[in-house]
Amino acid sequence: MPSRSGLRSGPRRGVRTALITGVTATLTFAAFGLSQGAVAATPNTPSTLPAPPAHVDDYNGLATTPPMGFNDWAGFGCNINQQLFTNTADDMVQLGLNELGYQYVNIDDCWMRKTRDANGNLQVNSSLFPNGMKWLGDYIHGKGLKFGIYEDAGYETCQGAAGSYGHFQTDADQYASWGVDYLKLDYCYQPLDQYPGKSAGDVAHIVYQEASQALLNTKRPMLFSESAPAYYCCSGSDFTNIMSWIAQNGNLWRYGDDIADDWPSVLDNYSQDNTPGLAAYAGPGHWNDADMLEIGNGGLNLTEEQSQFDVWSELASPLLLSTDLSKLTPAELAIVKNRDVIAVDQDRLGAQGTVVQSGNGYDVLSKPLANGDRAVVLFNKGDTAQTITTSANKVGFAGAGLYGLTDLVSKQRTSSAGVISANVPPHGTVMYRVSRFGSPLAAPSVAVTVSGSNPATVSVADNGILPLSDVSVSLSGPNGWSISPASTRVGTVAPGRHGTARFAVNAPAPPPGQATNTVTATVSYRWLGFQSGTATAAQTRITNTPYDNLAQAFDNVAVTDESNTTPGNFDGDGDSYSAQALASAGAAPGATITHDGASLRWPSSASGTNDNVVAGGQIITVSGQGDTLAFLGSEAGATSSPVTVTYTDGTSSQVSLGFPNWCCEGTTAYGAEPVITTDHRDTPTGPANYGNDYYVFYNSVAVDPTRTVATVTLPNAPEIHIFALALS
Ligand code: GLA
Repeated sequence: MPSRSGLRSGPRRGVRTALITGVTATLTFAAFGLSQGAVAATPNTPSTLPAPPAHVDDYNGLATTPPMGFNDWAGFGCNINQQLFTNTADDMVQLGLNELGYQYVNIDDCWMRKTRDANGNLQVNSSLFPNGMKWLGDYIHGKGLKFGIYEDAGYETCQGAAGSYGHFQTDADQYASWGVDYLKLDYCYQPLDQYPGKSAGDVAHIVYQEASQALLNTKRPMLFSESAPAYYCCSGSDFTNIMSWIAQNGNLWRYGDDIADDWPSVLDNYSQDNTPGLAAYAGPGHWNDADMLEIGNGGLNLTEEQSQFDVWSELASPLLLSTDLSKLTPAELAIVKNRDVIAVDQDRLGAQGTVVQSGNGYDVLSKPLANGDRAVVLFNKGDTAQTITTSANKVGFAGAGLYGLTDLVSKQRTSSAGVISANVPPHGTVMYRVSRFGSPLAAPSVAVTVSGSNPATVSVADNGILPLSDVSVSLSGPNGWSISPASTRVGTVAPGRHGTARFAVNAPAPPPGQATNTVTATVSYRWLGFQSGTATAAQTRITNTPYDNLAQAFDNVAVTDESNTTPGNFDGDGDSYSAQALASAGAAPGATITHDGASLRWPSSASGTNDNVVAGGQIITVSGQGDTLAFLGSEAGATSSPVTVTYTDGTSSQVSLGFPNWCCEGTTAYGAEPVITTDHRDTPTGPANYGNDYYVFYNSVAVDPTRTVATVTLPNAPEIHIFALALS
């Protein structure tokens, strides 16, 4: 038995940057530094990848456009069975997805056993798939669809089932006999030890080439998805080595992290797919795979779901749904059934869109299309609405002219003299198909922007060639806001110019903590005297208002009474400190804890009610002078993150703060010291884990003793829990 080497687990999600938080109580607008999330390639970034081989041999003639269909992994993990796939096939047809190009029904990991049979064949897990794979393939084919399966080029699959290494031909023959049309070949448990002296890139080349040849030998057309690049993404000699041969041996390849059901993950994969130079590797028969769509899985809002679909299509990624299709809402179905966006993904030219312009929290992408049009995505990655503006020249058209813009979601058609601009909601996209030939009589392209606080200014830009007349603007805000006038007339706006309207906006004093409010402008206008149109824009106002004291910000229950442990959830798993154990360690509600000259008050909350703050950038009012800011805290994690101390003179200082994990991982990390030690904890089913110590720690940050402190902004790291703080 060869020893196990290489990577054990699948491609991981990259490091995520936490969400933004304003550091003062001032309003933050679209112009706020939206530095969160992925940083995409900027247009002028030099390529980190060499140009792909000038000529790519047609591997098997398949996947002339990116594959579309279903793969279970993102939505179901190992929680799969035969019925999931028969239902999916039924739903795909019933919902008419098949007619739009969704074709593949693909099984991911967990369909088979850990061992092969006496003849060396893979064994289906027959309790999950009682009728076997041939039967399932026939069922899927009976619906007019195609059948995909998963294996791994190493010793084992990522979930520990029998790997394909050393059995490529046997397995390929097996797939062919089952009627398989698509193989995803993952790359956990890499057989690096079989090839001493060879680089990981060369080993991947050997095994993927062998697997690829085995598929060709069967003579059954099987689309081949190679996961090797994902294990080396997105730089370094092994990655470039792998990219140099990948297209010769298969049809598509995962290049980055496993997608997860949240916005940072979508941004992360998006960013990886914009690795400079990567787009050049995509084309008919060979595609970069940004991983599955998370639409329908609950972790993305509708705007984010639309963005994933638009951006994946712009990047010519496979469109693989991974959810219970029967539960897609009408709005989600409208996203995944949008023929015009699908046409961008499936365009026969096969170019992958690239970032042609980047700015504060946004990217503009452009994808050349077979008929000479370009698909343009204005992508707002940030947390506040903004107007994104580019031009026909920047997206790849030469010279001047009248351009036709079709919004692929609203279906609105407009004409532009060259400026391409729209207001885009947070995490949103506006996707245009831009054609070189705009109609002179079509609606002028109009972009609306809201800026400023009080007054707020609404600007209406006419980017077409016909004047706007009867322009009127109204502005609305949340309940309780006073905005005047409610609407106002701007009159006429000439082509290439903009008109403005001003509004007094009085917002009620925001409550302590973070709040997001949206102000919306609606503009109506005419062109050619009798045609009428409307356009809207949003302004996102994020406030972060100081709490009077730490207790006012308490938002988590870390302490429970042993007789009722259910409200507790210090660690995300329902575990908590025991109130009884804390009391015997000196931390009864309201107790004073002194350490290192600091005097800190333990929360006086009743057990089972909020008694600590999960650090998320909250601002706490702390008045006075001292040289030390002392904390009682602990972590359900292991991280440190900056605390900001702001003084009454407006200056501020930042110092990193962290605590050790509440249990079991050493007690001095980040310079902290244990001050309360309990010998067990509460769990959802009652007190438990006797003999393990659960701590609360003291830690402190230095403060300028010559200035007066006004506020303290807590770290932005939910691992950190804070029970008390005091100046000393
Ligand atoms: C890896 C892959 C995933 C999925 C799992 C299955 O993590 O990247 O897409 O196939 O393995 O174990």
